[in-house]
Amino acid sequence: MRRIVLEGRGNFEEWRKAARAFAAAGILPDDIDWQEKSSEPGFAFQRDALPPDPAPNARPMSVPPAFMALAEAVICHSDPGRFSLLYSLLWRLLENRNLLDLASDEEVSRARLMQKSVHRDAHKMTAFVRFKEVAAPVGGRRKFIAWFEPDHYIVARKAPFFQRRFTDMDWLIATPKGSAAWVGERLTTSDAPCEKPDISDATDDLWRTYYASIFNPARLKVKAMQAEMPKKYWKNLPEADLIPGLIADAEAKVLAMAEREATMPLAYHNRIREAAARMPAPKRAPAGTLEALREEAAACSRCPLHERATQTVFGEGPVDAGIMFVGEQPGDQEDLAGRPFIGPAGTVFDEAIAQAGIDRSRLYVTNAVKHFKYEPRGKRRIHQKPNLGEVQHCRWWLKLELDLIRPRLVVAMGATAFYALTGEKQKLADVRGRAIAMQEGRSLFVTVHPSYLLRIPDEKRKAQELARFRQEMSLIKGLAA
Ligand code: URA
Repeated sequence: MRRIVLEGRGNFEEWRKAARAFAAAGILPDDIDWQEKSSEPGFAFQRDALPPDPAPNARPMSVPPAFMALAEAVICHSDPGRFSLLYSLLWRLLENRNLLDLASDEEVSRARLMQKSVHRDAHKMTAFVRFKEVAAPVGGRRKFIAWFEPDHYIVARKAPFFQRRFTDMDWLIATPKGSAAWVGERLTTSDAPCEKPDISDATDDLWRTYYASIFNPARLKVKAMQAEMPKKYWKNLPEADLIPGLIADAEAKVLAMAEREATMPLAYHNRIREAAARMPAPKRAPAGTLEALREEAAACSRCPLHERATQTVFGEGPVDAGIMFVGEQPGDQEDLAGRPFIGPAGTVFDEAIAQAGIDRSRLYVTNAVKHFKYEPRGKRRIHQKPNLGEVQHCRWWLKLELDLIRPRLVVAMGATAFYALTGEKQKLADVRGRAIAMQEGRSLFVTVHPSYLLRIPDEKRKAQELARFRQEMSLIKGLAA
């Protein structure tokens, strides 16, 4: 019997080196006693030396990639039997490459359960790590510490996730199973167990306020909640001490909610308000500026379209733009990006103005309606034309944009934009392609909407209409000169 003692703290390379040497020397699984180094001071297992490295001309050992993925997870498990289990699987895989497909195999199924448990633990770490800010040198990067108690040796495995998420601050995640730190743009991990630091602070109150405010007693599903947030994580979550009380009161609260008048604010509104009052006020753009208007429009609820749209898509461009282009409403991509004309219609528009020598960065581009109206169909959101009422509600913003930008030339792309700008319903063909006088010495030029060009099924007609649209862009350039 050979005895090998490993640190075993999720370090796959350490196990792999030993396993390769044993397998190459033909040592059977039952002839190896795999031990994990004890963390008890003064305690050390007697260990045997590894077999010598295989000869350079020895046949290389090959295992399926699925085993590597499995072994890299299982090695993080805290079960002391993981090393021998993996070695036994490795040994058997050398005989049967398809071994991992045998779900009924006792060792395969044990390893799969361990892999699942490690993945779950890693997922919980991403969900339940709570950083607390600690004092940092003046002018230096902000510093944060978190304490977490994983079941397995997953800290090094998950450290890159936190590195990607929190690059612009220094942090340390301490756990009884090792630690990870990102300091001055350098990631380090350590196996050494940490002591729990004392890091309760004012942010705990914010977490509690937040948690209490999002807790909806009417939606309480205790079992699902316990599965997602097992009790063992509770003690390190500032909000956890609220949970038993919130659960106990849930039924009474639901009844009270049902009875409460709609106008009465819920109790947690006050807590949110108090927490918000403790936060520094966000910087506001000076009143009367385009930025202030954009901020105001971001909270627009003048019509129901805001309820389903991702965000307000406000106009974009310099405040001294000479030309303002007005479309209909943002499309799917504009709704997600928060910018007008950046989707397929925007591509048609960009190409046409570029050919006419118009620089988009000198234009103000906006829409008659600032929220995306759509019909969900499966996973897609299908554009729906805004109705007259919606256009009328949104004219409020268009008028304010016109008052601030004061463009010499306004271009209506399509009938909705024409109606929003003039309040008149006209056949587009009757007003298209020429300058019309507007108030305040402004001119209005009417053309089609770029989406209309995309929808023309006949290729020849499409090319003709596109050419006409481009010519109109050249006319617009001339009018604005
Ligand atoms: N169609 C529009 O009218 N506006 C956009 O911003 C995009 C598509």
